[in-house]
Amino acid sequence: MTGQFDGKSAIITGAAGGIGRASAIAFSREGAGVVVADLDLEGCEQTVAMIKAEGGNAVAIKTDVSNSSDVQAMVKKAVDEFGSLSYAHNNAGIEGAVGMTADYDENEWDRVLRINLKSVFLCIKYEILEMLKAGGGAIVNTSSIAGLVGYMTMPAYAASKHGIVGLTKTAALEYAGRGIRINAICPGGIQTPMVDRMSATQDKEEFEAMIKAMHPIGRIGQPEEIADVAVFLCSDKASFVTGHALAADGGFVAK
Ligand code: NAI
Repeated sequence: MTGQFDGKSAIITGAAGGIGRASAIAFSREGAGVVVADLDLEGCEQTVAMIKAEGGNAVAIKTDVSNSSDVQAMVKKAVDEFGSLSYAHNNAGIEGAVGMTADYDENEWDRVLRINLKSVFLCIKYEILEMLKAGGGAIVNTSSIAGLVGYMTMPAYAASKHGIVGLTKTAALEYAGRGIRINAICPGGIQTPMVDRMSATQDKEEFEAMIKAMHPIGRIGQPEEIADVAVFLCSDKASFVTGHALAADGGFVAK
């Protein structure tokens, strides 16, 4: 592979499928060596096989992104395999249970905040330390439209995704003068296993009509459309962009 990320490495979390897999493939197509991290090792290995089948270089690592030692091992893997760390797309996340705020289970709240938000803190903490050694880098965190506006019946998810935006802006300010750019992507509905799970209990036609109505562009998004934004935000073409939460949502939050 040859491209704008030749000789560089990238960590992509939640890369066993969905948006993370598309991102891992997209970073590889730009020439990066990719660390494919996820709880689901088998899925990671499938992603690595897809990358290798088209001539890229990638390595799988089973990682619980909410566990500090796992995250440190993931960052070390990038350095051990590829020499340094330049890019990261912190993307792993869960939707959590659905329920009104006053009825929301306290343990579920803690679980969603740990997996979606503490994880991003841990990832950027250890990624930044390594990027400082490499003289700079770029990080993208996957938030959501639920990180920009309220999202009824998903209070923990929306709080975690708003938290990612606040953390992204804060870390971006702290490291802007030291060569590290940090941004967030806020996807609308994207066709992934997460959306398949959320739609499984609903009538297929009703769900499709709801998705169309939700996005002014009139359709659901594809994982590759988010991966392209992640590549752009990490690339030199976004060299003056930091601390930004970019909605890639078919117009959802413009309404
Ligand atoms: P997905 O469910 O297909 O992929 C998420 C991946 O994260 C899975 O492979 C899962 O194994 C992994 N994961 C879950 N917990 C983990 C943990 N503790 N440690 C490591 N890996 C873990 O979902 P999708 O849609 O690809 O989601 C990716 C990100 O995009 C998530 O942060 C999600 O909240 C966000 N997002 C998704 C949208 C959508 O419509 N699909 C919309 C907005 C945001």
